[in-house]
Amino acid sequence: MASVLLVVGSVYGNSSSVAEECAELLRSAGHEADIVSNASVNDLVVRPDAVVLACTSTTGQGELPDNIYPLVNELRETFPLMPERRYGVIALGDSSYETFADAGKQVDELFQELQAKRIGEVLFIDACETADPEGTAIEWLRDWMKAL
Ligand SMILES: Cc1cc2nc3c(=O)[nH]c(=O)nc-3n(C[C@H](O)[C@H](O)[C@H](O)COP(=O)(O)O)c2cc1C
Repeated sequence: MASVLLVVGSVYGNSSSVAEECAELLRSAGHEADIVSNASVNDLVVRPDAVVLACTSTTGQGELPDNIYPLVNELRETFPLMPERRYGVIALGDSSYETFADAGKQVDELFQELQAKRIGEVLFIDACETADPEGTAIEWLRDWMKAL
């Protein structure tokens, strides 16, 4: 069974709620799942075996929410290569913005640069297409979890 660290970037609570539902499903499947808002690099360092599942919305004009920005900034500054780390990304956004889901894309790009190994594809959840982000995430997670 895997240990999953859900790192959340949320302004209005949608991504937090998605992360909570995902954590519940992971736990019911026998995995360990912890949610961290306002994560720091140390939260990753102390859990070297944890699979990181970043769950973030985009705010402003393609910006990272305040509660995930410090982690991303610290990773960019310290650039700790993590070839053993596995991760996934759930990117919430709204396609009426030109910068659709940019924060999730930034997180994915950064983990790629740090040589982490992504499990599956990034899940994009478009507020223009679904009013049920949790349901969309759960459907995706059922498949994603198989690779844990
Ligand atoms: C002020 C504001 C700015 C936003 N900017 C973007 C954006 O640049 N790109 C995008 O894809 N979505 C953008 N969104 C949409 C949010 O990412 C989307 O509504 C998401 O579900 C919010 O999740 P949260 O509640 O976890 O923050 C914006 C929403 C608001 C209210």
